[in-house]
Amino acid sequence: MKISASFLSSSNIPVDLKRLNETDVDYIHVDVMDGKFVSNKTMPFSEMKNIYKFTDKRLDVHLMVEDPKKYIPLYAELNTEYITFHVELMDHIEENLELIKSYGIKCGLAIKPNTPVKSLVPYLPLLDLILVMSVEPGQGGQSFIPETQHKLEEVRALLEAYHSDVMISVDGGIDDQTCKLCQDCDILTSGSYIIRSESFQEQINKLR
Ligand code: DX5
Ligand code: ZN
Repeated sequence: MKISASFLSSSNIPVDLKRLNETDVDYIHVDVMDGKFVSNKTMPFSEMKNIYKFTDKRLDVHLMVEDPKKYIPLYAELNTEYITFHVELMDHIEENLELIKSYGIKCGLAIKPNTPVKSLVPYLPLLDLILVMSVEPGQGGQSFIPETQHKLEEVRALLEAYHSDVMISVDGGIDDQTCKLCQDCDILTSGSYIIRSESFQEQINKLR
C-alpha cells in the first residue's frame, strides 16, 4: 500500500516536512483550499511553493477549489506526481484534466462522500487517479465516514468493469483502524494520524 502524508494539520510545516522526508512515505499530499469550494483557505502559492526547500518527495496535490485552471499551472511547476480536483465542479472537467496532462503530470478526480460513484464514469478514460473522500473536505482531524468502505468497493468494481487501471486513493480520518476498511485502495492519504505522533515512520508502517 502506498502512503501519502497530508500536512494540513501541522503547526510547524517546515519541521514536519523535514521529518516526513526522513521516512519512506511515498508522497506529500498538498491540500489547497480557496475559501470558496470549501470555507477554509490555505496559504497562497507564493508561500506553498517553498515546500521544495524541505522535501524532495513527490507531491500529490489535492485542489479543493472552484477554479482549478488558476492553480494547475502553478502546482505543475513543483515536484508534482498527481494533481486532483473535484468532480462536483461539473464544468470544464475534461479541459482541466487535459491541462494537467499537458504538463506531463498525472490527473485525478476527487469525489465527496455524498456524490454518487457514477458521476466519475464519463471521465474514466482520462483519469490516472480517483480520490475518494472519507470525510467532508475542508479540514483535517475529522472522523472517517464508515460508508466509505462500500464506496471504495463500488469504485473498484466500476474500474474492473471498465478494465481500467486507474489508481484509487482515500482521504480523511485514516488511522491504523480505519485503514483496514480501505483494502480496495492503492494509496492511503493520512494527515493527523501521522503528523500528531512522535514517530512518523512507526505510524506509516502501521498503515502499510
Ligand atoms: C480534508 C483533506 C485531507 C485531510 C487529511 O479536507 O483533504 O487531506 O487533511 O487529514 P486527516 O488524516 O487528519 O483527516
Ligand atoms: Zn486532501
